[in-house]
Amino acid sequence: MEPTQYWDTIYRSKDSGELSWSQRVPSVSLELVGAREGRTSIIDVGAGNSRLVDHLIDDGWNSITLVDLSPTALEEACRRLSERCTGIDLVTGDICRWRASHPFDVWHDRAVFHFLSRSDRIRYVEVASATVQTGGHLVIGAFAPEGPAQCSGLDVTRYSVDGLAEIFQPQFQPVRSLAEVHETPWGVAQAFTWVVLERQ
Ligand SMILES: C[S@@+](CC[C@H](N)C(=O)[O-])C[C@H]1O[C@@H](n2cnc3c(N)ncnc32)[C@H](O)[C@@H]1O
Repeated sequence: MEPTQYWDTIYRSKDSGELSWSQRVPSVSLELVGAREGRTSIIDVGAGNSRLVDHLIDDGWNSITLVDLSPTALEEACRRLSERCTGIDLVTGDICRWRASHPFDVWHDRAVFHFLSRSDRIRYVEVASATVQTGGHLVIGAFAPEGPAQCSGLDVTRYSVDGLAEIFQPQFQPVRSLAEVHETPWGVAQAFTWVVLERQ
């Protein structure tokens, strides 16, 4: 099954509480994205139906873009946001083959990069480098070396802080990292590596 159909089938067949990655409050993402403080534009890649966007609206980000392969996931997020969805840019597509129409201050990715093949990782770095403006931040959370080897039936690549950071160098340099243990809705612990990288 090709990736768009694969992911869309998951969102069509499961409730949020049945998705291992779902979380009520994306607290690590919010901490690492940080206060808006003069910044305006943020992109959440592989956003799914994450509640991060709800908080970004609350925090006053006025240019928010969500990209995901799954139209169903983005529709669910939009339905939840109701009239607050107006003004959010929703893009159904592959982040590795996307081109931004304007530069972004922040790029956020939770639990997407670890699915990518070697060739897609190269494309991803190119897209991120072309999208995030100088001084802007890349916030990425991926499974840690002690995290799961699979998610949703797909193999993942697990990353240490250094392993994740070096993929994005020299275009981005690390400014912060954090270890998180996410608990799935059914109580299983999943270790994540988070890095914040600054566009040079
Ligand atoms: C594990 S989920 C994480 C969703 C969300 N980031 C969160 O934290 O709730 C992975 C998401 O990445 C999306 N995805 C996977 N590969 C993608 C790609 N190449 N481009 C865009 N989205 C992708 C899937 O459709 C899915 O919504």
